[in-house]
Formats: sequence, structure tokens, C-alpha cells
Amino acid sequence: MSQAIPLSPEYRFTFPPFFPRYCTTLLNRAIDSFHEKRLGIKTTGGAGSPHPDASHYGCLAYYTYYKIFDALGLDKKDVVVDLGSGKGRPNFIAAQYPIKESIGVEIDPPLHAVSVANCATLREARAPVRFVCQSATDFNYDDTTVIIMFHPFGGETLNVVLARIEDSLKRKPREFRIVYGNPMLSPLIAAKPWMQLYDAWNPGTWSRVKFPVHFYRSTMPTS
Ligand SMILES: C[S@@+](CC[C@H](N)C(=O)[O-])C[C@H]1O[C@@H](n2cnc3c(N)ncnc32)[C@H](O)[C@@H]1O
Repeated sequence: MSQAIPLSPEYRFTFPPFFPRYCTTLLNRAIDSFHEKRLGIKTTGGAGSPHPDASHYGCLAYYTYYKIFDALGLDKKDVVVDLGSGKGRPNFIAAQYPIKESIGVEIDPPLHAVSVANCATLREARAPVRFVCQSATDFNYDDTTVIIMFHPFGGETLNVVLARIEDSLKRKPREFRIVYGNPMLSPLIAAKPWMQLYDAWNPGTWSRVKFPVHFYRSTMPTS
């Protein structure tokens, strides 16, 4: 999908009705539990965040992350960075693909500690995984080719992150994509003339993808 995709100035999403949502959530939970056992990690649960401008910890289903990474067609050149990596679920899934590296950036030390513990028990990976405990506003994006985020922070933080990414792409031209789950602040990214919304998933009533997902790519020259 490369044509212009309509994006409302203020993003809105209403959940599907209770019964389909309940059935598809139960199915996702059962399959999440299978993947957690298979990989030897624990990423479930929720947690509040003491940090200003930060969202609470929560995960998308394994199904959604596999569907996203399949759609991206990741390869050996890709460095996948999860902004707000929490306990590390998306990073461990990204590492099931033959990529260069999977990096999680998490501001909250207790959540970061869980991701590091998960790293030690992880059973299967085709790529290196590592986690850093710092704000996304301080991360060096120079090697990153794909960012994934599940609405991790507010607009103040996102604007700083986007400015750092823009500088990085000017300094080091390359292909670059952002995947944004529960894209509450998508208009901030869409407003950047160097980013293009190239796909948008809007889950239907029975979808196992529980939130909209927006896909952006950089339009800056790559050489
Ligand atoms: C909704 S959770 C997403 C967790 C994980 N990405 C996943 O999908 O399983 C958002 C996470 O972003 C983290 N976060 C919030 N602000 C941050 C920042 N400025 N830098 C890094 N992480 C941040 C929160 O602590 C929280 O763990």
C-alpha cells in the first residue's frame, strides 16, 4: 500500500464488541503461553511506570509481533530496536529472524532487569539480543534500521526521539522504518516530511491483532 493513507489529526480507536474481543483474547493468551514456554521467557503481566511521559507496561500478542516481523521481511542488514522494551517480548521474537541484532531500550530499571533475566534463560535465537536501560531520548540510533514501539511514551518524548532519528539519518543515510502499535501519536510522525505512512492495519471485529498498527518508512536519500 503506497498511496496516501488517510490519518485523522487526532487518532481514535474503539475496541470491538465484548464477545469477539473475549474469544480472540483467550486464543492469543493460550498461544502466548505456548511461546513463552517454548522460548523459556516470562514477559506477561502489566506494571505501572513511575516515569513522567511513560506508558504502563503491557504487551501485544506473540501473534501480532510475528505478523509484523513477517510483513517487514527482515534480513541480515536489520538492527531492530524496541523503544520501551519492558520485559523484552518483541526483542526475543525479532531474534527468531536472521537479523543483525535485536536491541531493547527501557527506561525502567526493574523492567529492564526482567528482560536481562529472560536473556539468560532464552532457548532459541537466530540473532544476538541485548538490552539497555536508558531513555529512548538518549539512545544512539546510528545503527538502527527498524524501530518497533507499542505506544511507549507521550508526545514530548516522541518529538525528541524523532529529532534524534532525523539527525542520525542525515549523518548516516540508510533505509529506516518505524512500526507503531496502538499509534495514539501517529500524527506526530506523519507530520515529518521525511517519513511516509506506507501501511496501516485497522483490526476488524474478529481480528487477533488487537490494536491498529502503523508502518512508516524514511523517504530520505539512502546514499
Ligand atoms: C506499552 S509498554 C511496551 C512494552 C514492550 N515494547 C512490548 O511490546 O512488550 C511501554 C514501555 O515503554 C517504557 N518507556 C516509557 N518511556 C520510555 C522512554 N523514554 N525510554 C525508554 N522506555 C520507555 C515503559 O517503561 C514501558 O515498559
